Amino acid sequence: MRIPLIAGNWKMNTTVAEAQALLAQMSGALGRIEGVEILLCPPFVSLATIKGMLQGTTIRLGAQNMYWEDKGAFTGEISSLMLSPLCQYVILGHSERRHVFQESDEVIACKVRSALRAHLRPIICVGERLEENEAGQTREVIGRQLKSALTGIGDIDSLVVAYEPVWAIGTGRAATGEQARATSGFIRLVLGELFGQAKASSIRIIYGGSVTAANVAEFLCQPDIDGALVGGASLKALEFISIADQAAGLKGRR
Ligand code: 13P
Repeated sequence: MRIPLIAGNWKMNTTVAEAQALLAQMSGALGRIEGVEILLCPPFVSLATIKGMLQGTTIRLGAQNMYWEDKGAFTGEISSLMLSPLCQYVILGHSERRHVFQESDEVIACKVRSALRAHLRPIICVGERLEENEAGQTREVIGRQLKSALTGIGDIDSLVVAYEPVWAIGTGRAATGEQARATSGFIRLVLGELFGQAKASSIRIIYGGSVTAANVAEFLCQPDIDGALVGGASLKALEFISIADQAAGLKGRR
């Protein structure tokens, strides 16, 4: 039984004060939603403050990135060992990391292994670019990204896979429910090839890319989609609450 996951990726938005104010607007309502795991991923600098504010709630906390070495002379980087006392999840391989910061499949694989060693739950993002989609290469790209990220991983129990087509992120042009269903089904197929059917059917696959309160139901009603990774709409308290509420209504496990 997969518990749906609604995750807010705040990206490089909010000062610490703004993060506090945003959470204050939504924590009460989010805390009352049952049967859905709700996750907030603010910038690194707000993690400790937000952790304090979330004490006593069931809302989870995640980071947006990390480096794979435990410690050392890596100026400006943050390790999994630093994050694991603060949060439960870490987003890895986000398309902005892949394309703005040139992170390769190999780099992402190192990060996944490091996160698991530190008992952080990785949300592994995969997704094809527009030209790859138009050239009919979606499955090839997703298969490659997924297999590479999972190299050397024995146990995938704590993983989440996020399907985020690059062309849908921040564009207002979300995938259709059918596109997201087809690719999520393919992701589960690949997981099955790698780890067996039973494991594959226990892993959560979530969709991200221009998710709003108006379109989230289209994704949540797909059998292989277990939630959403929300960018822009997670910065609007009422909209994010509505997204989580709809997830509880459509998919919530009680
Ligand atoms: P938007 O919801 O703003 O398209 O961003 C999606 C995303 O990248 C979440 O990680």
